Amino acid sequence: MKAVVITKYGDPEVLQWQEAPTPQISGDQVLIEVQAAGLNRSDAFQREGNYPAPNGVAAEIPGLEVSGIIVECGPDVVDFKVGDKVCALLAGGGYAEYVSVREGQCLPIPASLSFTEAASLPETVFTVWSNVFQRGNLQPGETVLFHGGNSGIGITGIQIAHALGSKVIVTAGTEEKGQKCIELGADVFINYKTQDFEKELQDEGVDVILDMIGGDYLSKNINILKPEGRLIHINAVDGSHVDLDIWKVMLKRLTVSGSTLRSREYEFKKYLAKEVQKNVWPLIESGKFKPVIFKTFPFSEAAEAHRLLEKNTHAGKIILVK
Ligand SMILES: NC(=O)c1ccc[n+]([C@@H]2O[C@H](COP(=O)([O-])OP(=O)(O)OC[C@H]3O[C@@H](n4cnc5c(N)ncnc54)[C@H](OP(=O)(O)O)[C@@H]3O)[C@@H](O)[C@H]2O)c1
Repeated sequence: MKAVVITKYGDPEVLQWQEAPTPQISGDQVLIEVQAAGLNRSDAFQREGNYPAPNGVAAEIPGLEVSGIIVECGPDVVDFKVGDKVCALLAGGGYAEYVSVREGQCLPIPASLSFTEAASLPETVFTVWSNVFQRGNLQPGETVLFHGGNSGIGITGIQIAHALGSKVIVTAGTEEKGQKCIELGADVFINYKTQDFEKELQDEGVDVILDMIGGDYLSKNINILKPEGRLIHINAVDGSHVDLDIWKVMLKRLTVSGSTLRSREYEFKKYLAKEVQKNVWPLIESGKFKPVIFKTFPFSEAAEAHRLLEKNTHAGKIILVK
């Protein structure tokens, strides 16, 4: 088969569309003929050598989410059959003509979605559901703040939280990006380059924050959380060693947590897939949540797709297509 291979760590041009071994399957794995693969920020971190693949996952082919058609099933597969159209959460290997994955990480593609749209979902939907709605326990009527409202994570979080009855506040880097968030269902956006989100929100307060910034956002986040508030981290791009005033956590009875999806065990991902299918797929089927695709590229132009990702001008997902 052909795959996009990280030929050495570095800038986007290290990504080459070249021959690679077709994955073999066994047990409860399925082989997917990939139709589309979603780009995520962490693919760029992996390409640079800053986000190693977990043990047992091929490090040279990036790609955490795909859509496609099952062309082979291992002997222990029970929920899917050859010919099924699925999208899947991967720990890597998605930028390829074929990928193998255990069946519990696959979901049927909702009828209304194209392969391109379906490939945009797994990484962000699994991350948002697990962190905002499970770990953060966001409830209807509560207020949630998404930092990076315009990120892949943000556009997913805004729509799901809005559809389930929460007030949604986002930070974004330009007026245009903020407006896009409003169109998706955000109630308020704060331009983090010209406004101080802590000042803007200190009177109102928020119940749940999804943060990928870390650094000096930690103390600001703590200050704007309401009593019993939950602060959930999914990255710390501005630094993970931070000052925390434990008294503020105690006095407001806050929860500070976080998680990483890629390294989680299979049983958790399988459980999460079922929860996503039960809670999020109906929102897609009823039109309350729609994938937002910014641009598609052929797999052979993965380097160009990564250049666009790193320009940070996109609003919506960038997808590689067959
Ligand atoms: N822990 C996990 O399991 C997990 C899973 C998936 C993703 N993630 C993490 O989640 C983050 C988002 O991923 P993605 O692929 O959706 O990213 P993405 O689309 O590349 O977006 C990154 C976002 O960060 C925003 N940003 C940068 N500096 C900011 C600041 N100082 N304040 C507020 N926002 C800021 C950018 O906003 P502007 O464009 O408006 O400037 C942009 O929207 C990444 O850091 C990724 O590693 C973690």
